[in-house]
Amino acid sequence: MSQLDPHGREQWKTRSGFMLAAMGSAIGLGNIWKFPYITGENGGAAFIIVYLVCIALIGIPIMLAEFSIGRKTQKDAIGSFQELTPGKPWFVTGLFGVVAAFLILSFYGVVAGWALSYTTKAMNGELLSIPAEQMGDHFGGFIGTSLSPILWQLLFMFIVIVIVVKGIKEGIEKWNKILMPTLGVLLLILVIRSVTLPGAGDGISFLFSPDFSALSTEAVLVALGHAFFSLSLGMGTMITYGSYLPKNVNLPTASVGISLADTGFALFAGLAIFPAVFAFGMDPGAGPGLIFITLPAVFELMPFGQFFSVLFFLLISVAALTSAISILEVPVAYFIRKFGWTRQKATWILGTIIFLFGIPSSLSLGAWSGFTIFGLNFFDAVDFLASNILLPLGGLLTALFVGWALKPKQATEMADLSESTIGKLWIFALRFVAPVLIVFVLLFVTKIIQF
Ligand code: PFF
Repeated sequence: MSQLDPHGREQWKTRSGFMLAAMGSAIGLGNIWKFPYITGENGGAAFIIVYLVCIALIGIPIMLAEFSIGRKTQKDAIGSFQELTPGKPWFVTGLFGVVAAFLILSFYGVVAGWALSYTTKAMNGELLSIPAEQMGDHFGGFIGTSLSPILWQLLFMFIVIVIVVKGIKEGIEKWNKILMPTLGVLLLILVIRSVTLPGAGDGISFLFSPDFSALSTEAVLVALGHAFFSLSLGMGTMITYGSYLPKNVNLPTASVGISLADTGFALFAGLAIFPAVFAFGMDPGAGPGLIFITLPAVFELMPFGQFFSVLFFLLISVAALTSAISILEVPVAYFIRKFGWTRQKATWILGTIIFLFGIPSSLSLGAWSGFTIFGLNFFDAVDFLASNILLPLGGLLTALFVGWALKPKQATEMADLSESTIGKLWIFALRFVAPVLIVFVLLFVTKIIQF
């Protein structure tokens, strides 16, 4: 069947398959759903600049660190730390990752379920028959229902499981190779439509002319958290994907390419959404409902709008899918090695537990909205804990691990850098820049949570 590495694990079939899978992991709801709305809530262009700085100074170096760890050891998120530093506590970094994977996929599946549901609503014509001004109420009503969103979440998780069960080449790689290019083409079409709407200019300047007075400390924390979330860092995803790599892929090039693709995709998603938001005089800070409320209204005005709306929501679902499979693969790879489970057993059991844990997140937007943790509903609390605390913490430990626990010579060799200037800069970024910035930002978490 498949090429196996010396440990009997599968490997990627092609370099492009790996690149697309890693891009598929990075590009997801974070880019199309979350980035636009947090940009809207945090003042637009100034927030984007902080975000780009986080990607360049912290994101790319840590992605390279994760790939290097994974490829060197050919092990899962926890095993790889144990292999490189046996008997030392560094493996807790991977443990954080496995916990973060559980938490993130639990609420990720809820939002992906909404996207699936909107795909069918778009298909049967229901969505575009709703008057634009009632789109918000419709969305609020839907996510506030108890049963329906959970069933969609269940369907989504079922599809994720079915793909992960098939393994690296026949499941993860195959799906990404078909779906990622299609996603790019569709987003491009939507951007062109959005920026050519009358009144689109205000949305473009919202994205590209910074107003630093709108930037809060909280915004910086959100930007850093999102850089990790969007690049799939800090929870061992890229360690796990890197562990299926053969030696012949250049890791620095791959890390820069994947980060650029992810960031470009987020900016394009912003360009597909904000010009339209402004053109219709809507609120750019509308929050999580932005793509479920604003975009359907855009489709109503577009020739062949229904056709595009179907493809758009379908492809958001697919973008979510290619990310979700990478998240599930983190605990699956760990359980297969650690407990000797078959891939099938690990995937079904872990996928089911994660689905169940997502149910309170879904209910917290309706029936259970009165239950709050530090002033946040369950959904937002899980998101905050995972994206703004666990991922940066995982990233911090990964940076410290490669920067300090490994010898520079070993680390740079693992990353295909040798001890060149770039290699030295990379080590410097991991030793000082990333840790200082992450610690600085994490210290502010306590100021934000209302104890
Ligand atoms: N990067 C994905 C997105 O932007 O939607 C989400 C994600 C995937 C986060 C994998 C973390 C992760 F490990």
